[in-house]
Amino acid sequence: MKDDTFQSPLTGRSIELLQATNDAAAVFQRSAHSETAVFRAYQEQMAALKLRGGLSFLNDSGDTLTVRVVNYSGRIGQILKRFESLVGLSTENFSFNVNDVDVYRKVIETRQTQYIPDSSVVIVQMLPPRLAPYLNRLVTTFGMHPGIYAPLIDPDGRVRGVLNMVDPHLTAQDVPALTAFANQIAVALDNARLFEEIRRYADELERRVAVRTQELAAANERLTELDELKSQLISNVSHELRTPITTLELYLDLFKHGNSEKRDHYLKIIEEQSHRLKTLVEDILDLSRLEAGRDKLQFGPVQLNDVVEQIVTMQQARAEAKGLELRFIADERLPVIQGIRSQLVQVITNLVVNSISYTESGYVQASVQLNEDDRRIDLCVIDTGKGIDSADLPYIFDRFYRGKDNKQGHIPGTGLGLAIVKEIVEIHSGEIVVNSELGRGTTFHILLPVTQER
Ligand SMILES: Nc1ncnc2c1ncn2[C@@H]1O[C@H](COP(=O)(O)OP(=O)(O)OP(=O)(O)O)[C@@H](O)[C@H]1O
Ligand SMILES: [Mg+2]
Repeated sequence: MKDDTFQSPLTGRSIELLQATNDAAAVFQRSAHSETAVFRAYQEQMAALKLRGGLSFLNDSGDTLTVRVVNYSGRIGQILKRFESLVGLSTENFSFNVNDVDVYRKVIETRQTQYIPDSSVVIVQMLPPRLAPYLNRLVTTFGMHPGIYAPLIDPDGRVRGVLNMVDPHLTAQDVPALTAFANQIAVALDNARLFEEIRRYADELERRVAVRTQELAAANERLTELDELKSQLISNVSHELRTPITTLELYLDLFKHGNSEKRDHYLKIIEEQSHRLKTLVEDILDLSRLEAGRDKLQFGPVQLNDVVEQIVTMQQARAEAKGLELRFIADERLPVIQGIRSQLVQVITNLVVNSISYTESGYVQASVQLNEDDRRIDLCVIDTGKGIDSADLPYIFDRFYRGKDNKQGHIPGTGLGLAIVKEIVEIHSGEIVVNSELGRGTTFHILLPVTQER
Protein backbone atom coordinates (compact mmCIF):
# COMPACT_ATOMS: atom_id res chain seq x y z
CA MET A 1 0.00 0.00 0.00
CA LYS A 2 1.18 3.37 -0.93
CA ASP A 3 1.78 5.69 2.04
CA ASP A 4 1.15 9.24 0.84
CA THR A 5 1.16 11.02 4.21
CA PHE A 6 4.20 13.30 4.09
CA GLN A 7 6.20 13.12 7.30
CA SER A 8 8.23 16.35 7.78
CA PRO A 9 11.51 15.88 9.64
CA LEU A 10 10.88 19.26 11.29
CA THR A 11 8.72 19.77 14.31
CA GLY A 12 5.99 22.34 14.29
CA ARG A 13 8.14 24.62 16.41
CA SER A 14 10.97 24.34 13.91
CA ILE A 15 8.71 25.29 11.01
CA GLU A 16 7.59 28.30 13.03
CA LEU A 17 11.23 29.19 13.60
CA LEU A 18 12.06 28.88 9.91
CA GLN A 19 9.11 31.06 9.01
CA ALA A 20 10.20 33.66 11.55
CA THR A 21 13.76 33.48 10.27
CA ASN A 22 12.53 34.16 6.81
CA ASP A 23 10.65 37.21 8.09
CA ALA A 24 13.76 38.28 9.94
CA ALA A 25 15.68 38.44 6.65
CA ALA A 26 13.48 41.30 5.51
CA VAL A 27 13.89 43.13 8.82
CA PHE A 28 17.65 42.72 8.72
CA GLN A 29 17.80 43.91 5.14
CA ARG A 30 16.12 47.13 6.16
CA SER A 31 18.26 47.68 9.23
CA ALA A 32 21.59 46.98 7.55
CA HIS A 33 22.65 50.62 7.65
CA SER A 34 24.11 50.45 11.15
CA GLU A 35 25.26 47.89 13.66
CA THR A 36 22.98 49.32 16.33
CA ALA A 37 19.98 48.97 14.03
CA VAL A 38 20.87 45.34 13.35
CA PHE A 39 21.18 44.68 17.08
CA ARG A 40 17.81 46.27 17.67
CA ALA A 41 16.23 44.18 14.92
CA TYR A 42 17.85 41.11 16.46
CA GLN A 43 16.28 41.90 19.83
CA GLU A 44 12.86 42.26 18.25
CA GLN A 45 13.17 39.01 16.35
CA MET A 46 14.31 37.09 19.43
CA ALA A 47 11.36 38.49 21.36
CA ALA A 48 9.02 37.45 18.55
CA LEU A 49 10.51 33.97 18.55
CA LYS A 50 10.25 33.89 22.35
CA LEU A 51 13.90 32.89 22.51
CA ARG A 52 16.52 33.97 25.02
CA GLY A 53 20.14 34.38 24.15
CA GLY A 54 22.82 36.75 22.96
CA LEU A 55 25.40 37.72 20.41
CA SER A 56 29.10 37.57 21.14
CA PHE A 57 31.94 38.66 18.89
CA LEU A 58 35.48 37.49 18.38
CA ASN A 59 38.37 39.90 18.94
CA ASP A 60 41.01 40.40 16.24
CA SER A 61 43.32 37.71 17.52
CA GLY A 62 40.41 35.27 17.61
CA ASP A 63 40.89 34.08 21.20
CA THR A 64 38.37 36.16 23.13
CA LEU A 65 34.64 36.46 22.74
CA THR A 66 32.79 39.50 24.02
CA VAL A 67 29.06 39.50 24.59
CA ARG A 68 27.58 42.55 22.89
CA VAL A 69 23.81 42.04 23.03
CA VAL A 70 21.61 39.88 25.21
CA ASN A 71 17.88 39.55 25.36
CA TYR A 72 17.16 37.95 28.65
CA SER A 73 13.91 39.47 29.76
CA GLY A 74 11.29 38.62 32.33
CA ARG A 75 12.29 36.84 35.50
CA ILE A 76 15.64 35.66 34.20
CA GLY A 77 16.42 39.19 33.12
CA GLN A 78 15.69 40.46 36.63
CA ILE A 79 17.83 37.81 38.25
CA LEU A 80 20.63 38.64 35.81
CA LYS A 81 20.44 42.35 36.58
CA ARG A 82 20.65 41.65 40.28
CA PHE A 83 23.53 39.31 39.68
CA GLU A 84 25.31 41.93 37.58
CA SER A 85 25.14 44.55 40.31
CA LEU A 86 26.26 41.96 42.81
CA VAL A 87 29.43 40.83 41.02
CA GLY A 88 30.18 43.97 39.03
CA LEU A 89 30.04 42.23 35.66
CA SER A 90 27.83 43.24 32.80
CA THR A 91 26.28 40.62 30.56
CA GLU A 92 26.44 43.10 27.71
CA ASN A 93 30.16 43.52 27.96
CA PHE A 94 31.31 40.21 29.28
CA SER A 95 34.44 38.66 27.75
CA PHE A 96 35.72 35.12 28.03
CA ASN A 97 38.42 32.99 26.53
CA VAL A 98 37.19 30.89 23.60
CA ASN A 99 39.27 27.90 24.72
CA ASP A 100 37.68 27.85 28.18
CA VAL A 101 34.21 27.07 26.89
CA ASP A 102 33.94 23.86 24.89
CA VAL A 103 30.83 24.59 22.91
CA TYR A 104 32.05 28.02 21.76
CA ARG A 105 35.46 26.61 20.83
CA LYS A 106 33.75 23.90 18.80
CA VAL A 107 31.50 26.37 16.97
CA ILE A 108 34.48 28.46 15.95
CA GLU A 109 36.70 25.53 15.02
CA THR A 110 34.10 23.55 13.05
CA ARG A 111 32.10 26.58 11.83
CA GLN A 112 29.07 24.39 12.55
CA THR A 113 26.05 25.10 14.72
CA GLN A 114 26.12 23.11 17.95
CA TYR A 115 23.25 21.78 20.00
CA ILE A 116 23.67 20.84 23.65
CA PRO A 117 20.88 19.39 25.77
CA ASP A 118 22.10 21.04 28.96
CA SER A 119 23.68 24.49 28.83
CA SER A 120 24.60 24.66 32.52
CA VAL A 121 28.09 23.43 31.63
CA VAL A 122 28.56 26.51 29.48
CA ILE A 123 27.91 28.80 32.43
CA VAL A 124 30.31 26.86 34.61
CA GLN A 125 33.09 27.11 32.03
CA MET A 126 32.40 30.71 31.11
CA LEU A 127 32.51 32.38 34.51
CA PRO A 128 35.75 33.37 36.19
CA PRO A 129 36.61 31.16 39.21
CA ARG A 130 36.07 34.02 41.66
CA LEU A 131 32.34 33.76 40.87
CA ALA A 132 32.17 30.13 41.98
CA PRO A 133 29.97 31.01 44.98
CA TYR A 134 27.25 32.23 42.63
CA LEU A 135 27.46 29.31 40.26
CA ASN A 136 24.69 27.19 41.73
CA ARG A 137 22.25 30.02 41.64
CA LEU A 138 23.07 30.82 38.02
CA VAL A 139 23.07 27.25 36.87
CA THR A 140 19.61 26.74 38.30
CA THR A 141 18.46 29.93 36.64
CA PHE A 142 19.85 29.17 33.19
CA GLY A 143 20.95 25.62 33.25
CA MET A 144 19.32 22.35 32.46
CA HIS A 145 17.98 24.00 29.36
CA PRO A 146 18.99 22.97 25.90
CA GLY A 147 21.11 25.49 23.97
CA ILE A 148 21.91 26.14 20.35
CA TYR A 149 25.15 27.93 19.37
CA ALA A 150 25.48 29.11 15.79
CA PRO A 151 28.50 30.74 14.14
CA LEU A 152 28.15 34.25 12.64
CA ILE A 153 30.00 33.82 9.35
CA ASP A 154 30.36 36.85 7.15
CA PRO A 155 30.31 36.60 3.34
CA ASP A 156 34.14 36.44 3.28
CA GLY A 157 33.88 33.23 5.23
CA ARG A 158 35.27 34.71 8.44
CA VAL A 159 33.73 33.66 11.73
CA ARG A 160 32.91 36.94 13.46
CA GLY A 161 31.08 35.64 16.47
CA VAL A 162 28.48 33.33 17.90
CA LEU A 163 24.71 33.53 18.26
CA ASN A 164 23.50 31.60 21.30
CA MET A 165 19.99 30.63 22.29
CA VAL A 166 18.82 28.90 25.43
CA ASP A 167 15.29 27.66 25.69
CA PRO A 168 13.52 24.71 27.37
CA HIS A 169 11.80 23.82 24.08
CA LEU A 170 14.82 23.78 21.78
CA THR A 171 15.63 20.49 20.06
CA ALA A 172 18.36 19.38 17.68
CA GLN A 173 15.83 19.77 14.90
CA ASP A 174 15.85 23.53 15.40
CA VAL A 175 19.50 23.68 14.33
CA PRO A 176 18.86 24.39 10.58
CA ALA A 177 16.36 27.13 11.30
CA LEU A 178 18.57 28.88 13.84
CA THR A 179 21.63 28.46 11.60
CA ALA A 180 19.70 30.31 8.91
CA PHE A 181 18.78 32.96 11.50
CA ALA A 182 22.46 33.38 12.43
CA ASN A 183 23.38 33.71 8.75
CA GLN A 184 20.84 36.50 8.31
CA ILE A 185 22.38 38.36 11.24
CA ALA A 186 25.92 37.81 9.97
CA VAL A 187 25.06 39.16 6.51
CA ALA A 188 23.18 42.10 7.98
CA LEU A 189 26.12 42.96 10.25
CA ASP A 190 28.53 42.71 7.36
CA ASN A 191 26.33 45.00 5.29
CA ALA A 192 26.18 47.44 8.18
CA ARG A 193 29.96 47.36 8.45
CA LEU A 194 30.34 48.01 4.71
CA PHE A 195 27.69 50.67 4.83
CA GLU A 196 29.44 52.40 7.71
CA GLU A 197 32.77 52.15 5.93
CA ILE A 198 31.31 53.73 2.81
CA ARG A 199 29.63 56.40 4.85
CA ARG A 200 32.85 57.18 6.68
CA TYR A 201 34.65 57.34 3.35
CA ALA A 202 31.96 59.61 1.92
CA ASP A 203 32.14 61.86 5.00
CA GLU A 204 35.90 62.06 4.67
CA LEU A 205 35.59 62.88 0.97
CA GLU A 206 33.02 65.52 1.70
CA ARG A 207 35.24 67.03 4.37
CA ARG A 208 38.20 67.11 2.02
CA VAL A 209 36.18 68.70 -0.73
CA ALA A 210 34.97 71.34 1.72
CA VAL A 211 38.51 72.12 2.87
CA ARG A 212 39.77 72.26 -0.69
CA THR A 213 36.90 74.52 -1.76
CA GLN A 214 37.67 76.82 1.11
CA GLU A 215 41.35 76.92 0.17
CA LEU A 216 40.48 77.68 -3.42
CA ALA A 217 38.09 80.41 -2.38
CA ALA A 218 40.79 81.95 -0.17
CA ALA A 219 43.36 81.69 -2.97
CA ASN A 220 40.92 83.25 -5.36
CA GLU A 221 40.22 86.08 -2.98
CA ARG A 222 43.95 86.67 -2.53
CA LEU A 223 44.42 86.71 -6.30
CA THR A 224 41.66 89.27 -6.70
CA GLU A 225 43.26 91.34 -3.97
CA LEU A 226 46.65 91.14 -5.63
CA ASP A 227 45.12 92.06 -8.92
CA GLU A 228 43.52 95.14 -7.42
CA LEU A 229 46.77 96.07 -5.70
CA LYS A 230 48.61 95.69 -8.95
CA SER A 231 46.31 97.91 -10.96
CA GLN A 232 46.35 100.45 -8.16
CA LEU A 233 50.14 100.28 -8.11
CA ILE A 234 50.36 100.77 -11.86
CA SER A 235 48.16 103.85 -11.80
CA ASN A 236 50.09 105.28 -8.85
CA VAL A 237 53.42 104.49 -10.42
CA SER A 238 52.62 106.10 -13.73
CA HIS A 239 51.45 109.21 -11.91
CA GLU A 240 54.58 109.31 -9.75
CA LEU A 241 56.86 108.77 -12.73
CA ARG A 242 55.21 111.48 -14.72
CA THR A 243 56.03 114.21 -12.18
CA PRO A 244 59.84 113.96 -12.25
CA ILE A 245 59.82 113.27 -15.98
CA THR A 246 57.79 116.41 -16.67
CA THR A 247 60.11 118.44 -14.45
CA LEU A 248 63.10 116.90 -16.21
CA GLU A 249 61.73 117.83 -19.62
CA LEU A 250 60.98 121.35 -18.50
CA TYR A 251 64.45 121.97 -17.13
CA LEU A 252 66.18 120.29 -20.06
CA ASP A 253 64.30 122.71 -22.28
CA LEU A 254 65.31 125.64 -20.05
CA PHE A 255 68.87 124.36 -20.08
CA LYS A 256 68.93 124.38 -23.86
CA HIS A 257 66.91 127.50 -24.60
CA GLY A 258 66.65 129.48 -21.34
CA ASN A 259 68.79 131.99 -19.54
CA SER A 260 72.34 130.75 -20.01
CA GLU A 261 73.45 132.35 -16.73
CA LYS A 262 71.10 130.06 -14.82
CA ARG A 263 72.42 126.89 -16.43
CA ASP A 264 74.12 125.72 -13.20
CA HIS A 265 70.82 126.03 -11.35
CA TYR A 266 68.96 124.10 -14.08
CA LEU A 267 71.59 121.41 -14.07
CA LYS A 268 71.28 121.01 -10.32
CA ILE A 269 67.53 120.51 -10.62
CA ILE A 270 68.00 118.09 -13.50
CA GLU A 271 70.42 116.09 -11.36
CA GLU A 272 68.02 116.08 -8.41
CA GLN A 273 65.12 114.99 -10.54
CA SER A 274 67.02 112.21 -12.25
CA HIS A 275 68.18 111.01 -8.85
CA ARG A 276 64.59 111.06 -7.66
CA LEU A 277 63.53 109.13 -10.71
CA LYS A 278 66.23 106.56 -10.09
CA THR A 279 65.30 105.97 -6.41
CA LEU A 280 61.65 105.85 -7.34
CA VAL A 281 62.25 103.14 -9.93
CA GLU A 282 64.47 101.25 -7.47
CA ASP A 283 61.83 101.42 -4.73
CA ILE A 284 59.10 100.23 -7.05
CA LEU A 285 61.27 97.35 -8.17
CA ASP A 286 62.05 96.52 -4.53
CA LEU A 287 58.40 96.38 -3.66
CA SER A 288 57.40 94.16 -6.56
CA ARG A 289 60.37 91.91 -5.85
CA LEU A 290 59.28 91.62 -2.22
CA GLU A 291 55.77 90.79 -3.29
CA ALA A 292 56.74 88.29 -5.90
CA GLY A 293 59.35 86.27 -4.09
CA ARG A 294 57.98 85.85 -0.57
CA ASP A 295 58.51 82.14 -0.31
CA LYS A 296 61.72 81.86 -2.23
CA LEU A 297 63.60 84.20 0.05
CA GLN A 298 66.52 82.91 1.98
CA PHE A 299 66.69 83.37 5.72
CA GLY A 300 70.03 83.33 7.49
CA PRO A 301 71.61 84.34 10.80
CA VAL A 302 71.62 88.09 11.44
CA GLN A 303 73.18 89.94 14.36
CA LEU A 304 71.16 93.14 14.58
CA ASN A 305 73.66 94.90 16.87
CA ASP A 306 76.17 94.91 14.01
CA VAL A 307 73.67 95.77 11.31
CA VAL A 308 72.23 98.79 13.12
CA GLU A 309 75.65 100.05 14.14
CA GLN A 310 76.86 99.97 10.54
CA ILE A 311 73.84 101.86 9.28
CA VAL A 312 74.18 104.49 12.02
CA THR A 313 77.82 104.98 11.06
CA MET A 314 76.88 105.29 7.40
CA GLN A 315 74.17 107.88 8.09
CA GLN A 316 76.34 109.94 10.46
CA ALA A 317 77.31 112.45 7.75
CA ARG A 318 73.69 113.03 6.78
CA ALA A 319 72.76 113.75 10.41
CA GLU A 320 75.76 116.03 10.97
CA ALA A 321 74.84 118.03 7.89
CA LYS A 322 71.57 118.89 9.63
CA GLY A 323 73.21 119.44 13.02
CA LEU A 324 71.54 116.41 14.54
CA GLU A 325 73.01 113.97 16.99
CA LEU A 326 72.70 110.39 15.71
CA ARG A 327 73.32 107.70 18.31
CA PHE A 328 73.06 103.97 18.72
CA ILE A 329 72.41 101.80 21.80
CA ALA A 330 73.29 98.12 21.49
CA ASP A 331 72.15 95.19 23.62
CA GLU A 332 74.92 92.78 24.49
CA ARG A 333 72.42 90.02 25.28
CA LEU A 334 70.94 90.17 21.80
CA PRO A 335 70.74 86.73 20.21
CA VAL A 336 71.38 86.13 16.54
CA ILE A 337 68.06 85.89 14.71
CA GLN A 338 67.05 84.24 11.48
CA GLY A 339 66.32 86.85 8.87
CA ILE A 340 67.23 88.33 5.53
CA ARG A 341 70.11 90.69 6.21
CA SER A 342 69.75 92.89 3.11
CA GLN A 343 66.07 93.42 3.85
CA LEU A 344 66.65 94.27 7.51
CA VAL A 345 69.30 96.78 6.38
CA GLN A 346 66.63 98.40 4.23
CA VAL A 347 64.16 98.59 7.13
CA ILE A 348 66.61 100.26 9.48
CA THR A 349 67.97 102.57 6.78
CA ASN A 350 64.49 103.74 5.80
CA LEU A 351 63.56 104.45 9.42
CA VAL A 352 66.81 106.25 10.24
CA VAL A 353 66.72 108.30 7.02
CA ASN A 354 63.09 109.25 7.70
CA SER A 355 63.97 110.39 11.20
CA ILE A 356 66.86 112.49 9.94
CA SER A 357 64.75 113.93 7.11
CA TYR A 358 61.80 114.84 9.28
CA THR A 359 63.79 116.25 12.24
CA GLU A 360 65.12 119.78 12.32
CA SER A 361 66.79 119.82 15.73
CA GLY A 362 67.63 117.44 18.53
CA TYR A 363 68.61 113.85 18.03
CA VAL A 364 67.88 110.59 16.32
CA GLN A 365 68.43 107.42 18.31
CA ALA A 366 68.49 103.84 17.08
CA SER A 367 68.51 100.98 19.57
CA VAL A 368 68.07 97.24 19.71
CA GLN A 369 66.86 95.43 22.79
CA LEU A 370 65.76 91.95 23.75
CA ASN A 371 62.25 92.17 25.24
CA GLU A 372 61.73 91.00 28.82
CA ASP A 373 60.06 87.83 27.66
CA ASP A 374 63.19 87.02 25.59
CA ARG A 375 60.97 86.20 22.67
CA ARG A 376 61.09 89.38 20.64
CA ILE A 377 63.68 91.91 19.66
CA ASP A 378 62.65 95.54 19.83
CA LEU A 379 64.35 97.57 17.15
CA CYS A 380 63.59 101.15 17.95
CA VAL A 381 64.20 104.46 16.14
CA ILE A 382 63.36 107.64 18.09
CA ASP A 383 63.55 111.21 16.86
CA THR A 384 62.74 114.69 18.16
CA GLY A 385 61.31 115.77 14.81
CA LYS A 386 58.11 117.26 13.53
CA GLY A 387 55.99 114.25 14.39
CA ILE A 388 53.16 112.72 12.43
CA ASP A 389 49.64 114.13 12.43
CA SER A 390 47.23 111.59 13.94
CA ALA A 391 45.15 111.94 10.79
CA ASP A 392 48.12 110.70 8.77
CA LEU A 393 49.15 107.86 11.07
CA PRO A 394 46.81 105.21 9.63
CA TYR A 395 48.12 105.81 6.11
CA ILE A 396 51.87 106.25 6.41
CA PHE A 397 52.48 102.64 5.36
CA ASP A 398 50.43 103.05 2.19
CA ARG A 399 52.30 103.31 -1.04
CA PHE A 400 53.03 106.87 -2.19
CA TYR A 401 51.44 108.35 0.92
CA ARG A 402 53.36 111.40 2.11
CA GLY A 403 50.94 113.00 4.51
CA LYS A 404 47.58 114.63 3.84
CA ASP A 405 49.05 118.11 3.37
CA ASN A 406 52.19 116.83 1.73
CA LYS A 407 53.88 119.70 3.58
CA GLN A 408 57.34 118.22 3.33
CA GLY A 409 57.38 119.43 -0.26
CA HIS A 410 61.00 120.42 0.11
CA ILE A 411 62.02 117.01 1.50
CA PRO A 412 62.50 114.64 -1.43
CA GLY A 413 60.68 111.34 -1.22
CA THR A 414 58.07 109.23 -2.90
CA GLY A 415 56.15 107.70 -0.01
CA LEU A 416 57.36 104.17 -0.66
CA GLY A 417 59.88 103.86 2.19
CA LEU A 418 57.47 102.74 4.92
CA ALA A 419 55.51 100.54 2.50
CA ILE A 420 58.75 98.66 1.89
CA VAL A 421 59.41 98.52 5.66
CA LYS A 422 55.96 97.04 6.29
CA GLU A 423 56.37 94.42 3.59
CA ILE A 424 59.74 93.28 4.98
CA VAL A 425 58.56 93.21 8.60
CA GLU A 426 55.67 90.97 7.52
CA ILE A 427 58.07 88.63 5.78
CA HIS A 428 59.91 88.39 9.10
CA SER A 429 56.65 87.74 11.02
CA GLY A 430 57.26 90.96 12.93
CA GLU A 431 55.12 93.83 14.07
CA ILE A 432 55.41 97.62 13.79
CA VAL A 433 54.33 100.04 16.51
CA VAL A 434 54.41 103.82 15.95
CA ASN A 435 54.02 106.55 18.54
CA SER A 436 54.16 110.13 17.46
CA GLU A 437 53.35 113.54 18.80
CA LEU A 438 53.08 116.47 16.47
CA GLY A 439 55.96 118.89 16.98
CA ARG A 440 57.68 116.62 19.51
CA GLY A 441 58.90 113.55 17.74
CA THR A 442 58.25 110.04 16.59
CA THR A 443 59.12 106.55 17.80
CA PHE A 444 59.07 103.47 15.59
CA HIS A 445 59.31 100.00 17.18
CA ILE A 446 59.93 97.00 14.98
CA LEU A 447 59.26 93.85 17.00
CA LEU A 448 60.90 90.78 15.52
CA PRO A 449 60.45 87.25 16.87
CA VAL A 450 63.69 85.64 18.05
CA THR A 451 62.73 82.36 16.41
CA GLN A 452 61.19 82.79 13.01
CA GLU A 453 58.04 80.85 12.24
CA ARG A 454 57.68 80.59 8.54
N1 LIG B 1 60.19 109.95 11.55
C1 LIG B 1 59.18 110.61 10.96
N2 LIG B 1 58.79 111.83 11.41
C2 LIG B 1 57.75 112.47 10.83
N3 LIG B 1 57.07 112.00 9.78
C3 LIG B 1 57.42 110.82 9.27
C4 LIG B 1 58.48 110.06 9.83
N4 LIG B 1 58.59 108.91 9.12
C5 LIG B 1 57.64 108.98 8.15
N5 LIG B 1 56.94 110.10 8.24
C6 LIG B 1 55.78 110.50 7.41
O1 LIG B 1 55.31 109.35 6.73
C7 LIG B 1 55.34 109.57 5.33
C8 LIG B 1 55.68 108.24 4.63
O2 LIG B 1 57.01 107.88 4.87
P1 LIG B 1 57.79 107.05 3.79
O3 LIG B 1 59.13 106.77 4.32
O4 LIG B 1 56.92 105.93 3.42
O5 LIG B 1 57.84 108.00 2.57
P2 LIG B 1 58.76 109.25 2.30
O6 LIG B 1 59.79 109.38 3.35
O7 LIG B 1 57.84 110.37 2.11
O8 LIG B 1 59.41 108.88 0.92
P3 LIG B 1 60.48 107.72 0.61
O9 LIG B 1 59.72 106.70 -0.14
O10 LIG B 1 61.50 108.38 -0.19
O11 LIG B 1 60.95 107.24 1.94
C9 LIG B 1 56.36 110.63 5.13
O12 LIG B 1 56.11 111.33 3.95
C10 LIG B 1 56.15 111.50 6.37
O13 LIG B 1 55.07 112.36 6.17
MG1 LIG C 1 61.01 107.71 3.79
